[in-house]
Amino acid sequence: MHHFAYRDGALFAEDVDLTALADAVGTPAYVYSEATLRRHFRVFADAFAGADALVAYSVKANSNIAVLKTLAGEGAGADVVSGGELQRAIAAGIAPEKIVFSGVGKTGDEIAAGLDARILQFNVESAAELAAIDEIARARNAQAPIALRINPDVAAGGHEKISTGKKEDKFGVPWAEARDLYAKARAMKGVAVKGVDLHIGSQIDDLAPFEAAFTKIGGLIADLRADGCAIETLDLGGGLGIPYGEGAVPPHPDDYAEMIKRVTAPLNVKLIFEPGRMIAGNAGILLSRVLYVKDGEAKKFLIIDAGMNDLVRPAMYDAFHEIWPVVESSGGETVYDVVGPVCESSDRFAKDRKMAPLKAGDLVAIMSAGAYGAVQASQYNTRALVPEVLVNGDQYAIIRRRPTYEDITALEATPDWLP
Ligand code: LLP
Repeated sequence: MHHFAYRDGALFAEDVDLTALADAVGTPAYVYSEATLRRHFRVFADAFAGADALVAYSVKANSNIAVLKTLAGEGAGADVVSGGELQRAIAAGIAPEKIVFSGVGKTGDEIAAGLDARILQFNVESAAELAAIDEIARARNAQAPIALRINPDVAAGGHEKISTGKKEDKFGVPWAEARDLYAKARAMKGVAVKGVDLHIGSQIDDLAPFEAAFTKIGGLIADLRADGCAIETLDLGGGLGIPYGEGAVPPHPDDYAEMIKRVTAPLNVKLIFEPGRMIAGNAGILLSRVLYVKDGEAKKFLIIDAGMNDLVRPAMYDAFHEIWPVVESSGGETVYDVVGPVCESSDRFAKDRKMAPLKAGDLVAIMSAGAYGAVQASQYNTRALVPEVLVNGDQYAIIRRRPTYEDITALEATPDWLP
């Protein structure tokens, strides 16, 4: 459930009228509801109340520092995948002992930064990375707490591009090599083996692949313990899907938690979770204004001022996002392709979408855009990054301003040989 709803035909974010907000901050703009962020975090955390569990919000989903501060206030930890995300998490006040560092390609500098910050654990994805971490830690007279990310070879995920748990995927240590690599890790002076990690994909709308993977990993933990390896933590990754208004309805966090408690109860481990989309996805919208209505030869196009550079999910993953009019109209229905201004045919938010008739100047809200929206934006076509706004009750604040042309070009330099 989220806090974007109509009041007398006008769409509000909590107690803020989105028409007034659009006039004040301009469009396009991302708008997040703080109450929704908090609510989603609590629903997830409460589902595991009583269990020894850390909810490490996956920063990649929405890394704005104000969003991170909101979640830090709820007790969230962080799952980071770069030195930049680590800095953001720390800047937002997330305690390092609640931070896990994931990702297949950590650089030496990033590993050193994680060690210096004394994070909870590195989720290690290969033998080569393990060796690098060992070496860097020894050079600093430190010991890196690690879990190996194991690839359970279970297919899951809403789209081929976001499935990560199959053996063809680049992620994780191959299942068949896991025990050997744990044995090697135990012999390394620069690492301290803490646990096991997995993450099988994103936007998963079915408990079955989770249960299959988690059960399999339970078996591995038993084998590792039989090998004499103490396993204290089990990081189950993220991946729980959200309703986008089309397709299957994902399981409720309570049902996800019930299954996990059942599967992991005999293991006696501290559980770590890395949810991203489930917390931020439905807490944000992309607010945009209709520029033109164009009657093409075969189609009617609604050309809006947001483009694929602002929200790439439809172009990149064929993702479905509901599009709501900000002012409800009295009726009728038109079929539109909703497109942006970018010079690419894939710059399309919806194809053959039935909507109330709209005209130039009207506002629309692209729903469920709080996760993997602003973070995946680019300045393609020299379009300024979209500002981000956080709503709290009847107040709002710009939490990332729209860059100026000078901001956009500030990092560029002209070589001496050009005029
Ligand atoms: N942990 C790891 C190791 C991950 O790779 C991911 C997401 C998560 C946690 C968080 O997963 P979530 O709970 O958000 O499903 N850009 C794509 C999604 C890519 C997901 C990448 N990894 C999209 O827009 O659908």
